[in-house]
Amino acid sequence: MHVRPSAAAAAAFLGFALSALSGTATSAAADPRSPAGRPGVLGPVVYAHRGASAYAPENTLASVDTAMRLGFDWVENDVQRTGDGELVVIHDDTLARTTNVEEVFPDRAPWRVRDFTAAEIAQLDAGSWFAPAYAGARVPTLREYLARVERNRQRLLLEIKKPELYPGIEAQTLELLEETGWLDADHVQRRLVVQSFSTDTVHIVHELRPNLLTAFLGTPKVADLPKYAAFTDRINPWHTTISAEWVAAVHGLAGPHGRTMEVDTWIVDDAVTARKVRGMKVDGIITNAPDVVRQAVIGGFAH
Ligand code: G3P
Ligand code: CA
Repeated sequence: MHVRPSAAAAAAFLGFALSALSGTATSAAADPRSPAGRPGVLGPVVYAHRGASAYAPENTLASVDTAMRLGFDWVENDVQRTGDGELVVIHDDTLARTTNVEEVFPDRAPWRVRDFTAAEIAQLDAGSWFAPAYAGARVPTLREYLARVERNRQRLLLEIKKPELYPGIEAQTLELLEETGWLDADHVQRRLVVQSFSTDTVHIVHELRPNLLTAFLGTPKVADLPKYAAFTDRINPWHTTISAEWVAAVHGLAGPHGRTMEVDTWIVDDAVTARKVRGMKVDGIITNAPDVVRQAVIGGFAH
């Protein structure tokens, strides 16, 4: 049984009410998607990109909690690996942009994630760059991150970032997911999707865990889509690269689990673009500002 911290209970209830209106859901039973996983009248599912990263430092536990407080259960993250083999949640392959690594380790340029140990990275401030109120936020390990998402009863769109830098990261990630309970039936069926820009990585994840939902990040040509349908359930493209026709072509295919393939597009942070991609009938919208998108797309495809 999962017990929320009492301080979050009211926000969680509010989140449930709001997400039920918006196309996200805080419980599997309330999932607005059709059996095929496509959105219903409530509109596209909204994913908090790197957490609610317009309002809290990206990929931190604070960004996950902020997404929850706003009423969003789906969070997206980026997974990489330290020099001593720990999986951590960070977007860039260097620590420079989102931590104070240049102050703490001035002689370690170019400050690559893979050139630091987990203990070194744990010393860094990953919040001050965003706002003073977040001073002391850390780069979470994936283990810590999964525990927080689980505690919040949220769901995870996990991106394996730059896998070419980290041989074997696919199997290592799956091992940790298994160890932490994220590959049980509940998580696999309703609470976890693994995505990557690397076709090889998506392929490997599908081969290693055929029951897991996966997504390929990119915009393959329509003629190539059937090849993707053999090993991935979703095609997640940058919003500027798609049309209604392209989305329809994806929807015309069944993925490896026999269900209609889906499209979750990124990164949409304004109402006009949110309505535009909703009009293209995308299944999901990945956004730094989930509240803005929710407000824009409430009401489904009607207008
Ligand atoms: O989830 C889609 C999006 O995260 C892909 O781009 O660079 O933010 O990881 P990026
Ligand atoms: Ca990402």
